Amino acid sequence: MTDMRYLFEPKSIAVIGASHDTAKIGYRVIENIVLSGYPHKVYPINPRGGEILGLQVFKALEDINNPIDLACIVIPAKLVFDAVKNCADKGVKIALIITSGFSEVGNIQEEKRIATYARENGLRILGPNIFGIYSAGVSLNATFGARDVRPGNVAIVTQSGALGASMIGKTAVENIGISAMVSVGNKADIDESDLLEYLLTQDMTKIIFMYVEGVREGERLVKVLNGATKNKPVVVIKSGRSAKGAIAVASHTGSLAGTDEVFDAIMRQSGVLRAESLQDAFDWCKFLSNNPLPHGENTVIITNGGGVGVMTADACEKYGVRLYDDVPALGEIFSDIIPDFGSTKNPIDLTGQATTSEFDGALNAALKSDTIDAVIALMSEVAVFDAENLPGLIENHYQHFKSQGKPILFSCFGGDKVEDCIKSCSTKGFPVFGDVYEAVSCLGGMYSYYNYLVNRSDEIAVADIQVETIEETVRRVREDKRNFLLAHEARAIMKAARIQTPTSQVARSLDEAVRHSEAIGYPVVMKLVSKDIVHKSDAGGVALDLENRDEVIDAYQAIIQSCKAYDPNAKIEGVDISKMARPGIELIIGARRDKTFGPIVMFGLGGIYVEVMKDISFRAFPLSRNEAMNMVKEIRSYPLLLGVRGEKKKDATGIVDTIIKLGTIIQECEIGDI
Ligand code: COA
Repeated sequence: MTDMRYLFEPKSIAVIGASHDTAKIGYRVIENIVLSGYPHKVYPINPRGGEILGLQVFKALEDINNPIDLACIVIPAKLVFDAVKNCADKGVKIALIITSGFSEVGNIQEEKRIATYARENGLRILGPNIFGIYSAGVSLNATFGARDVRPGNVAIVTQSGALGASMIGKTAVENIGISAMVSVGNKADIDESDLLEYLLTQDMTKIIFMYVEGVREGERLVKVLNGATKNKPVVVIKSGRSAKGAIAVASHTGSLAGTDEVFDAIMRQSGVLRAESLQDAFDWCKFLSNNPLPHGENTVIITNGGGVGVMTADACEKYGVRLYDDVPALGEIFSDIIPDFGSTKNPIDLTGQATTSEFDGALNAALKSDTIDAVIALMSEVAVFDAENLPGLIENHYQHFKSQGKPILFSCFGGDKVEDCIKSCSTKGFPVFGDVYEAVSCLGGMYSYYNYLVNRSDEIAVADIQVETIEETVRRVREDKRNFLLAHEARAIMKAARIQTPTSQVARSLDEAVRHSEAIGYPVVMKLVSKDIVHKSDAGGVALDLENRDEVIDAYQAIIQSCKAYDPNAKIEGVDISKMARPGIELIIGARRDKTFGPIVMFGLGGIYVEVMKDISFRAFPLSRNEAMNMVKEIRSYPLLLGVRGEKKKDATGIVDTIIKLGTIIQECEIGDI
């Protein structure tokens, strides 16, 4: 495996297709490399030779005597394979293929040919169909995008090259400092996981932002993300959320999108912050990379306007920011500063007569308090408000809060002076916003990450199951050319996984049906056993709540008669007698192997809740018991499990056990595709 340092910290670069024509991409790339101040050797390659930007142009790669770490390929698609061959011969470590015209337009074979040749000859490939790489650590801008990149601590990995290229410009406008920016394009070889593995160890990168369209090796990505989020936040935008978007993604990069719900659940499970818009993603990156994580969840709103305070409280609920609600404690902290007609309940209302000096006092009190963990300060420009002092107030308090490891955000409303203040403060990197929702969204993102870190558990739950028994049962079903289990087979599997089921027996005659019913104890349930009738209820093959011998005899005869009428050719093996379960809540617990992410577990309330309301939760497997419990708590109907109207609380621990057992079956047993 080639070290990704050759990509992010190359000691020498060749540009294959360096053009003399200033309008061409091949010129732009070499120009960006030169102007970005890259301190190591740069070798332009072009059969015409000559000089570009004062650099000697080599006619071929083999003419260079020194080793090459990274080669940027910027020549038409049909010439790329030969260039890749030359790179491998020369011992180049990584080839970055900017050229498009491969799998994204159906030219899959050529892309495969290149990737296979490279892999077999020890060359790694980034791309094709990419805009290049920016790496602040070695002052390298090997892209054909904008030149004006601010070095900083946000790393961006994007699948869309054009979006990435335009993000270079956008980050400059948003005043976001970049540590690295890479596009992965068609991912013929190097993918997000390779890049993340490097970025999570790179000191300069404090936060990673990924734009994803499709995931190929999902299981590996989840592992890498789990490792990354332990140390730094990761923000993801995944397009193709809607059905139409998914089709667009498939045609854009030729990759499968995967189910969005599953992707969403797995990102949350891995502690990844999923943003819906670029604005949110940029805001979060800027805020999380520049500000300390809180030490607890007590947030206080300090305002000089009641209405805006309430709006902010709403936003806090929406984004999961917990407001500090210990009224006596808040009274003690703020009562000296707040006028009698103000409020020391959160939001802390300094009232419309407050000037920056009242804010000064309240913010100092919040800073000093050990029980306040984060502050949102709201300044409205009312008549007495001295807006000219606002920039100084913000800068002063921002620096103090930051140095003491306490997050603070500001939201200001008003005329020109206030607008100018927002602009100048943002330019300096202070979290000052015009819209409270934008501010609270940032704090919400930070708290999502904080809560993930606090609750994170690397302890993986295991279940003791009889793998061989389960595999043998499934093997016999396969031999019978079936892809469904009969009731007793399903029960055998559940028994082997130690999942509790009602006592049951298959009866092959009326006599047996009666004997089994008496042995099990009434009431019982009777169900047809036939490989030829899968939907038993449709055929009249199910009888519930049979209370005695006579009811069992009647039910047996009715089931056999009705099923024979339903399908005269059906082979009837008998009936399954089970103990009738007591009334309760119907749940569904599922597990499957996802094409992208491997073993997945699912939980929800059964019946209409799962089918109509889609009230279900997913997780990648394996997981911790904690995470399995989160899955149970996450569904909207969870309160029903707590017991409503005098009902007993349901056995959530039992649900967690079953989720883990089922996941273990899918993970451990060789049972083929379902
Ligand atoms: N080795 C080195 N240089 C070579 C070469 C070789 N084997 N064969 C040709 N060249 C030179 C050419 O002579 C030319 O230089 P010149 O202008 O000085 O004569 C230069 O390489 C470029 O070749 P050219 O044929 O002019 O190609 P182009 O510039 O029109 O297009 C690409 C090349 C790669 C830009 C184009 O094929 C492409 O893929 N464009 C899309 C890129 C893109 O959007 N990528 C995804 C971004 S998200």
